[in-house]
Amino acid sequence: MTTLHVPLSQTPYDIVFTAALAGEAVPGLSAQVGGKDCLLISDSTVAPLYGERAAALLQGAGAARVTTTVFPAGEASKHLGTLAELYAAAVGAGLDRGGVMVALGGGVVGDLAGFCAASYMRGIPYVQLPTTLLAQVDSAVGGKTGLDLPQGKNLVGAFHQPAQVVVDVATLCTLPPRQLACGLAEVVKYGVIMDAELFSWLEARVAPLLALDEAVYREVVYRCCALKARVVVADERELTGQRAILNYGHTFGHALEQLTGYARYTHGEAIAIGMGMAVDLARRLADSPALADLQRRQDALLAALGLPLRAAGLAPAAIQQAMRQDKKYQQGRNRLILPDRIGLVRLVKDTDEALIRAAIEGRCDP
Ligand code: NAD
Ligand code: GLY
Repeated sequence: MTTLHVPLSQTPYDIVFTAALAGEAVPGLSAQVGGKDCLLISDSTVAPLYGERAAALLQGAGAARVTTTVFPAGEASKHLGTLAELYAAAVGAGLDRGGVMVALGGGVVGDLAGFCAASYMRGIPYVQLPTTLLAQVDSAVGGKTGLDLPQGKNLVGAFHQPAQVVVDVATLCTLPPRQLACGLAEVVKYGVIMDAELFSWLEARVAPLLALDEAVYREVVYRCCALKARVVVADERELTGQRAILNYGHTFGHALEQLTGYARYTHGEAIAIGMGMAVDLARRLADSPALADLQRRQDALLAALGLPLRAAGLAPAAIQQAMRQDKKYQQGRNRLILPDRIGLVRLVKDTDEALIRAAIEGRCDP
């Protein structure tokens, strides 16, 4: 068991790494749920796998009452209709301002449950129990919550930090390989944006990562959470640009997801292609040996981890148009995270749209 503290000034919390769902102690969980009514929120894939063990964990930590609510798995559920069902479940479970919500699942469950907690009765606490690699290394930490509108992804949301994050990496053993690869795209992202040593460490561990070596995952999840916590503490609400570095590859990737109805690519697959477009664009703006090295090694690592490098069957003009709907664009002006070298990226504004189009075209097949 290990604990990582996220020292936010207003809402500090702990990320506890422990085999919680196998009965290992979770220090501090009683303080969050003890004597309280809990709404355990999960999806239709995760609930049958871990729902009972999670409910038992909460009861063991002294919860007064645990009510479970489940919605259909997948990004297609991340909409206002599901949110309305969650509010109804909370009312039905008798949750008042003394209650607590618990998100058991991937990023979709965490984002929806987090937003439900942020807004229910003007805000109640919630605990994150992430079960995908993506959620464990990224979405469960940092307090970004929200849901999609038909017009775009994550267009409704709030910052609402979790009261605690409980990470049990053993849950990754049931994750389909494609979902594992999805999380690995975010892991590679951390290496590129802020930790060259992590990037090299990953290059040397492709085989154990693909073989789901639990010890390797314990280390990689801890390292990524520590990196994310550092960014979130520096710029909790993405006001200074420091947190924006986490969006490396995301403006391109979100456009790919939106154009394909969130159905063709996982989030990580879209981000992997988007990271390729970002480094290609950086090279078009100002090439250097460090960028050529990054492009070669990023492509090789992503491909070795089973991630795509190119998009197919999409018009580059449509991708560029979809990018303009991304939250990162402001008053129609582009803002992109572009790399300088492995371990260093920066926010670049007002890039020539013709160069953006060329970078997109370079990664698109008919
Ligand atoms: P997801 O929540 O849809 O999970 C992927 C699939 O894996 C689902 O079908 C789920 O039921 C299943 N699953 C989850 N855990 C499992 C397990 N242990 N074993 C077997 N199956 C399991 O997707 P995701 O990739 O976890 O998250 C993507 C979402 O996260 C997107 O909506 C994205 O916008 C959001 N996100 C949010 C943040 C943030 O900071 N809040 C950051 C990154 C991504
Ligand atoms: N995943 C982007 C962020 O948390 O800011």
